[in-house]
Amino acid sequence: MSKTPTVLSEETGILVIGLGLIGGSLLAALRDAGYAGRCFGVDLNPKEVALGRRMGLIDDGGADPAAFLPHVSLIVLAVPVMAIAPVMAQLSQRRRHGQVVTDVGSTKSAIRDQIRAALGRVPSWLVLGHPIAGAEKSGVEAANPALYQRHRVILTPEADTDVQALKRVERLWRVCGAHIEQLTVERHDEVLARTSHLPHLLAFSLVDTLARQDDRLDIFRYAAGGFRDFTRIAGSDPVMWRDIYLANREAVLEALSEFEAGVSELRTAVAGGDGDAMLGIFSRASHARHYFDRLLSQKSYQVMETRNVVYRAGAGGQVRGNIRVPGDKSMSHRSIMLGALAEGVTTVEGFLEGEDSLATLQAFREMGVAIEGPQAGRVVIHGVGLHGLKQPGGALYLGNSGTSMRLFAGLMAGQTFDVTLTGDESLNRRPMGRVADPLRLMGAVIDTGEGGRPPLTVRGGQRLAGIDYDLPMASAQVKSCLLLAGMYATGDTRVREPAPTRDHTERMLTAFGYPVARHEDVAHIAGGGRLTGGFIDVPADISSAAFFLVAASITPGADLTLQHVGINPTRVGVINILREMGADIELLNERKVSGEPVADVRVRYAELHGIDIPVDQVPLAIDEFPVLFIAAANASGTTRLRDALELRVKESDRIKAMADGLDILGVVNTVVEDGIDIVGGRYHGGEVESLGDHRIAMAFTVAALRAEGDITIRDCANVATSFPNFPALAREVGMQLEVVSEDA
Ligand code: S3P
Repeated sequence: MSKTPTVLSEETGILVIGLGLIGGSLLAALRDAGYAGRCFGVDLNPKEVALGRRMGLIDDGGADPAAFLPHVSLIVLAVPVMAIAPVMAQLSQRRRHGQVVTDVGSTKSAIRDQIRAALGRVPSWLVLGHPIAGAEKSGVEAANPALYQRHRVILTPEADTDVQALKRVERLWRVCGAHIEQLTVERHDEVLARTSHLPHLLAFSLVDTLARQDDRLDIFRYAAGGFRDFTRIAGSDPVMWRDIYLANREAVLEALSEFEAGVSELRTAVAGGDGDAMLGIFSRASHARHYFDRLLSQKSYQVMETRNVVYRAGAGGQVRGNIRVPGDKSMSHRSIMLGALAEGVTTVEGFLEGEDSLATLQAFREMGVAIEGPQAGRVVIHGVGLHGLKQPGGALYLGNSGTSMRLFAGLMAGQTFDVTLTGDESLNRRPMGRVADPLRLMGAVIDTGEGGRPPLTVRGGQRLAGIDYDLPMASAQVKSCLLLAGMYATGDTRVREPAPTRDHTERMLTAFGYPVARHEDVAHIAGGGRLTGGFIDVPADISSAAFFLVAASITPGADLTLQHVGINPTRVGVINILREMGADIELLNERKVSGEPVADVRVRYAELHGIDIPVDQVPLAIDEFPVLFIAAANASGTTRLRDALELRVKESDRIKAMADGLDILGVVNTVVEDGIDIVGGRYHGGEVESLGDHRIAMAFTVAALRAEGDITIRDCANVATSFPNFPALAREVGMQLEVVSEDA
């Protein structure tokens, strides 16, 4: 940090009362930041004062604050929690005009109450605060100027706290590199009881229990990883922690009771050998842990993933073998939603463990649904019934997933509680008015961000009524959103679609015992029914298979079989379009699972030719166009797409994103508002942008099979949203794909 004499220039001098780790580190941070005013330290222990002076932290110090008060404008109380009120009483008589006082105590209600008892009120010049930072070491000797950097400092002002005083304390901490937040005193204590006081209590107790059981302390000699990690904080200052538990008694007891209930649930599971229950608890916890990490670091749901992923797709390669691509994304989302809202247990096989469907899964965990797994595509959902969800602790973060947000909007409209839905940068740019508007017609109350974009706040406790709605665009997400809301509405909900779109919601609702009728172009659901849990087999996703259908179709010598692919008639546009272009695709072993048609799909190289894509196929292949554009680039003649405006509002503007990449590779194309013309022919390699869109990234990987040079594709981490093992499967069939991390 640069040293400038203007740092905190409004403070003529700073007095820290209590020269320990916390007070000492504050002074060290101020000095480091270039604070040029005078600093004083008061401590009952003269050794600490002498050390503070020797370390250059203070200009002067002693045991009595009175000696230094005339020289300072800001006073920081860094004494133990129980000593704060008595020191305040002393200070209040000697305080000079304009002096501001703040504290660093780790509990706030007790301090505030004791100050009220001593002084009659909390003075407006006192700003209660708490830096969330610490170390196992204590004393001024351990002072660390970086202790507060990027740490939070919680301030808990009262309604009548002086605004200028608050600003000065905020500046004090900001200079030390901290992030400032405000909470009420009560909320602070509840939060800290759970996030700090309870874990410390458990660590102290565990070490003490083990130490007493093993008086030769052998156990510590062998204690590595888990024990050491879990108990690190038991090395903290015992007196300080005694005071904290004395001061924050009620909130700690409440947190402890919750913990005891949790441990007792786990005890029952261990005693009864109930592996499923253990798995449920552990996987919930493990996912929650990752989720916290992501929230705190604003990373993707799967924190282990490096986000700056670049694909290097080598020119040429083969496409041969027999593979199974991951589970269908649309069905995976719906299996969690309906399983959670069903009565009884639902087992899902073939679940897609991609970020999008995991975001849906995690959101239901946040709403109190016990979900075991996923483990090798198996998920067990303990349904809570249509009215059994609980309000989540915070906003539901849905990552990159438009399906989650739009379907959730419908489901949340029928709940008794408020929910906020938010997502990543791409999702937060996508239009949500298309669901919010018809839901409002049903009686829902929904706040959207600017221009009808996320975040969405869906207000609970509204009475919904069924509607007749003509969809302005062919969208399965909007249709599904309204059908799901229709379960919570009185009367009937009818949705007319301008063209058929995927009907997984209708099929799966029916499989869960909630019938959805279909009359020509209208889907129709009656409110007030119920869902019954069962078994769902999710077939492989035809949208993921599409990359390999095109890969094999354009690569001489290719012969590939894709197992167990969902071939629902509302999804097979890609097969119909490729066949019309001359592709050699065979459906083998056709069968039905969980109400959905499935087949093994064999595809061999064939010479493709350009076509005018039939408009009725557009909604049936809506997600497959990026890779179909690569098929077009390898076909003789021109392929024309029209009536595909929806492509502009997917994870990226897919017409533009693909056209830009095709331009770089030298593929001749002409963009129109609702489509594109692509002229097939030879093309070279180059560096293209996926714009964080999974399907653009995978499409250009496929393009490399016939490119005359390597293709580098940037920003590919989001492939994990729908197809986490794409690179491995691509290599398995003979494509040359190297995944590199930019920061590696
Ligand atoms: C989906 C519907 C489609 C599709 C998306 C998944 C679904 O979106 O693009 O990937 O699961 O209902 P639209 O409804 O916006 O066309």
